[in-house]
Amino acid sequence: MRASSLQNLMRCYRRHVAGRPLETKPAALVVAVGAGSDDGFDQAFQAGNFRFVLAEPEAPAFGPADIAICGMLPAAADEIARTFADLSGLLDPAGILFLLAPRNGADPDRAGVAAAASKAGLDLVESWTDERGASRDFVAVLRAAGAPAPVAASTAADHPFTVESTPEMERVGGSLPYRDILARLHRELAPAHYLEIGIRLGASLVLAGGPATGVDPFPKLRHELPAGTRVVAKASDDFFLEDGEARRADLAFIDGMHLVENALSDFMNVERWSLPGAVAVIDDILPNHPAQAARSRHTYAWTGDVWRLMKILEAYRPDLFLLPLDTAPTGLLLVAGLDPGSRVLWDRYDEIVTAALAWPGPPEEILARGGVVPPVGDGFDRVMAALRDARAGGAAPAEIAARARAALAGEVKPAPAPESAGGLRRFFSKIGALLGAGRNFG
Ligand SMILES: C[S@@+](CC[C@H](N)C(=O)[O-])C[C@H]1O[C@@H](n2cnc3c(N)ncnc32)[C@H](O)[C@@H]1O
Repeated sequence: MRASSLQNLMRCYRRHVAGRPLETKPAALVVAVGAGSDDGFDQAFQAGNFRFVLAEPEAPAFGPADIAICGMLPAAADEIARTFADLSGLLDPAGILFLLAPRNGADPDRAGVAAAASKAGLDLVESWTDERGASRDFVAVLRAAGAPAPVAASTAADHPFTVESTPEMERVGGSLPYRDILARLHRELAPAHYLEIGIRLGASLVLAGGPATGVDPFPKLRHELPAGTRVVAKASDDFFLEDGEARRADLAFIDGMHLVENALSDFMNVERWSLPGAVAVIDDILPNHPAQAARSRHTYAWTGDVWRLMKILEAYRPDLFLLPLDTAPTGLLLVAGLDPGSRVLWDRYDEIVTAALAWPGPPEEILARGGVVPPVGDGFDRVMAALRDARAGGAAPAEIAARARAALAGEVKPAPAPESAGGLRRFFSKIGALLGAGRNFG
């Protein structure tokens, strides 16, 4: 299954199956129509007790299906109506249909899809379009007309994990705590709007000095956040599809789900919605032991395979300025020169994730923190000064990256730090006004 389609299927599952009766039903039947294979389904359907069956589009002769997954949407209206009629026929009255269809360039007419569904006795519950990958999926969720949407029995819970580690597996490195670097970025860049993906207790979100938004499906705040800071209790992919102006930021910290496909999507979205001069910081790029880099967590110190994101950006985005920093416990990657118009990662998302997942590792050079820059000292000071100046001067992405590179190489004398970044704050103050004060746990 393509990486982007799998992400979409997982989103369908999280929003419509997780915590609901279908998840506890014994041997719930999942029929995949025109899907080619059920490769990847086990990742989307991790909980519960599901049986998977593959069916041909022309003869989806199974049923009643608790969940039907259809991998295609015909172009012609009469064929769409026929497809929906077939799918409706195989669906249990309390079942749900996930349609994940390649768009192949054309955007489907949602009103037409809803009308065809209605003729076949189905309600279009929700739909979205994905900009990732060559196929740029159209995703629709449908159920029998008038059937009530089952309510999740429990509020969403964090991903459970069992720790099986030795002290060696938990060893950490780094010469300065990563939150010291975040605090410095807030102080010296004075962002108009700070966005944090993955906040947990709020220990890093609390460092924001101005308007800020933190996104986490399972926030467990233990810190009193400043008035200008909002919390959005959602997974980042929901947030980036739904949350309008709150997505726009000029400083972002990516520390959510530690799997490369999620961290890459988070970076792509941060960049796409970035304000001019934006800087992104990615946590956990430097596992200290291979056990910490496992995709399935079994250590307290867990980086997952976010190290692959650093390698992806090195390989596919030479235009960006990338600065791996030797922070504790698991390294930070500072990224500057963000270009909201860049399509490379969006267009090639599926092949990039497939290739990256095949890279063996984490490589020795990453475990040994080779080529990593000290987060204190002249080199980093020069980069910070260059970023400050370039942002204040409204430099374009390529210019920001070039100036940061030159600064790191010692080619540019740093300008003195401005006494206050009030100008930049005022310039973007309308963003703060749009975000409003107070928290939103919606
Ligand atoms: C390492 S913690 C964040 C720590 C915090 N940034 C700090 O430095 O104090 C990772 C957080 O990411 C959250 N998370 C997991 N999946 C996510 C997703 N899809 N979108 C956003 N956050 C996610 C988890 O709930 C968890 O609270």
